[in-house]
Amino acid sequence: WYAGVHTSRGMPWRKPYDPLQGPEERAQRAYEVWVSEIMLQQTQVATVIPYYTRWMENKRMHTTPELCGKNKSVFKAAANVDEVNALWKGLGYYSRASRLLAGAQKAVAQYKGRLPDNAKDMEANIPGIGRYSAGAICSIAYGEHVPVLDGNVHRLMSRFLALHAPPKAKATLDLLWAAAAAMVAKGPESNTADTSSPEFTQYPGDINQALIELGSTVCKVREPTCQSCPLRPWCGAYEVSKSGHKPIPDIE
Ligand code: ADE
Repeated sequence: WYAGVHTSRGMPWRKPYDPLQGPEERAQRAYEVWVSEIMLQQTQVATVIPYYTRWMENKRMHTTPELCGKNKSVFKAAANVDEVNALWKGLGYYSRASRLLAGAQKAVAQYKGRLPDNAKDMEANIPGIGRYSAGAICSIAYGEHVPVLDGNVHRLMSRFLALHAPPKAKATLDLLWAAAAAMVAKGPESNTADTSSPEFTQYPGDINQALIELGSTVCKVREPTCQSCPLRPWCGAYEVSKSGHKPIPDIE
């Protein structure tokens, strides 16, 4: 079901993952994805696009050191909180902008202005980055095989597995994280570098973004459009609804 096609759909933070990118490019990609993920936390894609573009076009927001200073001999003067808030104005939920700034300050103080280069360290050390964000950033920017589970993927996987379980229980979340991890797992084939194997997911970031997008645009909370869902043939909830049983209730 995965064709290996990079589709940006007009989202400027989506760029093809380049496994050969150097450390600077890698750090820049991580920063870009981080900004996009924070903006997308409580805001729709279409609203975020112009804000994201404006942010990245601002010279003082280009990289983490430019955003929050340090090492001024190399980087331009840092942005200040007022500038950050001005650029954020209209997006709402200003605490997100403060969290971004706090995380950037930590990255500058402890990691030479770069985010840690793997999801575990990123989640453990950067304030404001939890398991979801670390998974999104590291799969998309670094090609790391780590899962994402946001509200959309939670709903999609619950339906896909026809799960009848309390949605917020630890056991349920553990199971859904494991299911999400299976979607981006390296197959055993990857040990032999057989990249032509359908088991080999070279682009976990694409798969994660496809799951997020499918959850938000097709597998919607109300009236999911199952007719246009590429996962329909394997979907447990669809199977149940087809056989005349009551559909699985919404989990949110
Ligand atoms: N929502 C959160 N992250 C997203 C992404 N990378 N693409 C589309 N929607 C998203």
